[in-house]
Amino acid sequence: MNNILMDVSIILDCFSQSRKEQFPDSEVVFDMLKGKPYAFISSSSLDNISFLKADELRKEYGYNKSKRKILSTQIVKHLAQNFKIAKTPAYLNIDYDNIEKSQIIASAKAVNAQVITRDEYMLKKYPGIAITTEEFLREIKNELKKIDFANLKKQYYDIQPQIEQQMDDVLNTTSFIMGDKIKQLECELQSFTKAKHVITCSSGTDALLLAMMALDIQPGDEIITTPFTFIATAETIALMKAIPVFVDIEEDTLNLDASKINNAITEKTKAIMPVSLYGQPADMDEINEIAKKHELKVIIDGAQSFGATYKKQMEVHHCDIFTTSFFPAKPLGCYGDGGAVFTNNDEYAEKIKMMRIHGQNKRYHHKYIGIGGRLDTIQAAVLLAKLPLYKKEIKLRHDVASSYNSKLQAVLSTVDIQLLTLKQDRTSVWAQYTIRTKSRDIIQENLRNLGIPTAVHYPLPLQKQECFQYLKQQTELPISEKAAEEVMSLPMNPYVDKTEQEMIISALYN
Ligand SMILES: Cc1ncc(COP(=O)(O)O)c(C=O)c1O
Repeated sequence: MNNILMDVSIILDCFSQSRKEQFPDSEVVFDMLKGKPYAFISSSSLDNISFLKADELRKEYGYNKSKRKILSTQIVKHLAQNFKIAKTPAYLNIDYDNIEKSQIIASAKAVNAQVITRDEYMLKKYPGIAITTEEFLREIKNELKKIDFANLKKQYYDIQPQIEQQMDDVLNTTSFIMGDKIKQLECELQSFTKAKHVITCSSGTDALLLAMMALDIQPGDEIITTPFTFIATAETIALMKAIPVFVDIEEDTLNLDASKINNAITEKTKAIMPVSLYGQPADMDEINEIAKKHELKVIIDGAQSFGATYKKQMEVHHCDIFTTSFFPAKPLGCYGDGGAVFTNNDEYAEKIKMMRIHGQNKRYHHKYIGIGGRLDTIQAAVLLAKLPLYKKEIKLRHDVASSYNSKLQAVLSTVDIQLLTLKQDRTSVWAQYTIRTKSRDIIQENLRNLGIPTAVHYPLPLQKQECFQYLKQQTELPISEKAAEEVMSLPMNPYVDKTEQEMIISALYN
């Protein structure tokens, strides 16, 4: 279902006894929509409602203007507290026969909403967008409750005013490349992580490239990493003409198995690149100990784990360079591509800053071969609007995961599923909630039929990907192969509510 915007006619029905009796559906609809994240009123309606209500109250209070004003203001306050306000956008198409209605329709378009109204003119002039209360009540009954996997819409509508304000700032300054907001965001990210340096960039993929460029990775260098990750982890190693060396993963966390790293080290090994899969850091103490012994660098691919901790500290404090992604569906996502590199090392930071702008140290003077890897100012604006919410959202993700855990623990004996482990000395940001099952196809199909989306992260480990056959990987990596056949991610975002969770769990064993 689309979002819903209430027309003035419906609102006024709910604040007058005689109208309520004449149009009872209006109040039913109003109560159903009150406080819902998808329910809006148009900013252009507020003054009108206040004026019309004050006028209506004339019968009761005669010319006692202040009493009428107080009452009508109270109504508008009540509306503003219980409904989202949709702005009148610049692409307003003014209908000079009825300016007010065209403003309402434009507001509805701006938030992808249908308008509930009793206004005949509107219903006739804007079919499809304008609907009656009866149509709305019929539609909502037929609506199969669909669960959203990442639910970016709910978050957007919750913080729409902050996003609009931040975006408007950028549009008004036209400072689209390396605007002030980039520095501002880097400062905020620095205070969030306590990293010495933060360099934002164009994506999580470019963040990995920049990290390896700063470490001066050369063709033929070997980098040890996990085969059970998104392609970008190893693809960037290959793009550097270095060699990804895959080491198998742990059965219970699916993260790189530190105990198997030693066997993979050769003279050419230059770095270890663990991935914090699904949001959980790998065994960093063990990895760092090996790195220290063999003089290797450590880059954490934290595309899925921004904000996770290892031994009470952010991951940047457990490696040479930490990278992350702000891809929209990541726990902290922007509205396009984005990423960042974090380090406590001054030399790497200085290099990365230059590398992300074509290796430039002074305008049009290029010290290094770099890339065009800047974050757009508009994406920094989105992140500045979202970051203040992020700690709360991590906590909500944690609550959703705990609730999934305890509900699933209770049915483990009856359903063919296995849970992954979160190790005690670290926290996850739950980019995904992933389980294992040998009946994945059947379960996915059952859930799909009930409107519950699932995903597989990842169906093929990297050593099996066509693009990596040239590596002629010799070592068997059986745990990654088995995991690829069994993993399944359930809807995960801060807003999966208890009812949705019950629906998902019961669908697992029905
Ligand atoms: C583990 C991992 N590494 C790297 C990336 C690449 O990030 P981006 O899509 O921002 O380039 C992702 C994104 O999905 C990822 O999950």
